[in-house]
Amino acid sequence: MNTDPSQIQLTADGRLKHFLTTEGLSKDLLTEILDTADSFISTQERSVKKVPLLRGKTVANLFFENSTRTRSTFELAAKRLSADILNLDIQRSATSKGETLMDTLWNLEAMYSDMFVVRHADSGAAHFIAEHVTPNVAIINAGDGRHAHPTQAMLDMLTIRRHKGSIEGKVVAIVGDILHSRVARSQIHALNTLGAAEVRVVGPATLLPRDIEALGCKAYYDFNLALRDCDVVIMLRLQKERMQNALLPSESEFFKLYGLTTEKLALANPDAIVMHPGPINRGVEIESAVADGPQSVILNQVSYGIAVRMAVMAMAMSGQQSEQQAEQQAKGETEA
Ligand code: NCD
Repeated sequence: MNTDPSQIQLTADGRLKHFLTTEGLSKDLLTEILDTADSFISTQERSVKKVPLLRGKTVANLFFENSTRTRSTFELAAKRLSADILNLDIQRSATSKGETLMDTLWNLEAMYSDMFVVRHADSGAAHFIAEHVTPNVAIINAGDGRHAHPTQAMLDMLTIRRHKGSIEGKVVAIVGDILHSRVARSQIHALNTLGAAEVRVVGPATLLPRDIEALGCKAYYDFNLALRDCDVVIMLRLQKERMQNALLPSESEFFKLYGLTTEKLALANPDAIVMHPGPINRGVEIESAVADGPQSVILNQVSYGIAVRMAVMAMAMSGQQSEQQAEQQAKGETEA
């Protein structure tokens, strides 16, 4: 029984009904997401890729921030689950005429949407929406400010599991702009829950939040040291759109200290994999020889993103339906 009020993303019997953050979710639930995603990878390799799990359901993609991979893989995931998908073009929507977020959402609810996939610049936006939407509409967080990006973290976990056999016992380094990265935060929670041996966060002091170690990771300023014994190296983009002040001397200085080159990668375990959530900036955080090299699984991450998003959408919809049935049953019993 779920008694934690902060677990707004779970039904009373502990099933997923929204997916807002990896923080606080159990190992069993995260593993269920990965196992479900694994089963969808095989359906993706068939000539007919669709399964009917969300037939008759309507998913609205609401991206208040730009996106290439996340938005298109959510769209493909919804289509491959046979849902109808509505891609709201925020730049051309009434948001630009001053309509509030909640007014936009209430209008979409009036169109009988069953699920909102939301990306927003404000940390906490998805949680806020989940608290205020009509019951039985599932909210999937596609990135909120610098807070969380749970589906990205889970596709990263699936990538590690498929390429390294498991997450348990692995040493993982997350490198670069940790300060502004919602991806890093969601990864740290998921890696710890799934039993990684050590999570290292690496970057200049200006890009490593002081309290980051409280999340369950070790801060490194020396990239060479952090690469030692590493099984997985995750590179992050410098998120300049979120930087209010100059936090770096220069991009070339950053690349010299924290850019991943073939020479630097040789300091990690020989079979280490290289990951990046994208978009990559070649020559800023990663050199092309590494991004396109044999240890890179960056494009595999993108492919697995479809399966993970299918898994999360299917699980949340099914959680919503079971909750609705339980409510109807309880109502029937009190009326009888
Ligand atoms: C990330 C994001 O938007 O947080 N990208 C993504 O979803 N693939 C990371 C980034 O923008 O650098």
